[in-house]
Amino acid sequence: MFTVRKFSKVGLFAGAALALAVAFGTVGSNNVSADDHGDRNAAMKSMGGAMKALGGAVAGGDASAAQAAAAKISATAAEIPALFKDGKPGANRSKAEIWTNFADFTAKANALKAAADSVAADAGAGKLGSDPKAVVGKIGATCGACHKAYRGPKV
Ligand code: HEC
Repeated sequence: MFTVRKFSKVGLFAGAALALAVAFGTVGSNNVSADDHGDRNAAMKSMGGAMKALGGAVAGGDASAAQAAAAKISATAAEIPALFKDGKPGANRSKAEIWTNFADFTAKANALKAAADSVAADAGAGKLGSDPKAVVGKIGATCGACHKAYRGPKV
């Protein structure tokens, strides 16, 4: 299982550091506005937590925990379009382009889901390897692609 000791070990890896940077980038700025911003951020934060769990599981050689973490990310990724669909730009980091390019935004959520599904499948097949940086980075690249396009600066 995932332990604090394993987590501090994985914290040394750049891939996990990326996940941490993504995860902690806006801690404390969860200002819920008149839309579903709070739900969106809760989903995002839970994925940040699952990324950390994934890195710890890979470092610790726990394939079933890695599979579970990747499956959680996949399930959350599937909810992203619905969480954002009826939202709007406001006092948050969601860029207005989300709603003018919603098909592309959805494609980026699907890319995250596909990456997480692939990691879960590899974990199930015992093909994940033991490099947390590679595994977390594979998913993290798709987080970053969407943030780069659709997440604005801290507010
Ligand atoms: C399809 C686009 C998209 C994908 C994919 C995506 N995000 Fe996000 N994320 C956003 C947007 C947009 C925001 C800003 C939301 C806001 O402030 O309204 C955000 C915000 C966040 C936040 C800040 C939450 C807060 O409380 O301020 C974290 C953490 C985060 N994302 C983590 C992740 C992680 C980890 C992944 C990948 C496992 C990921 N995101 C994938 C679009 C995405």
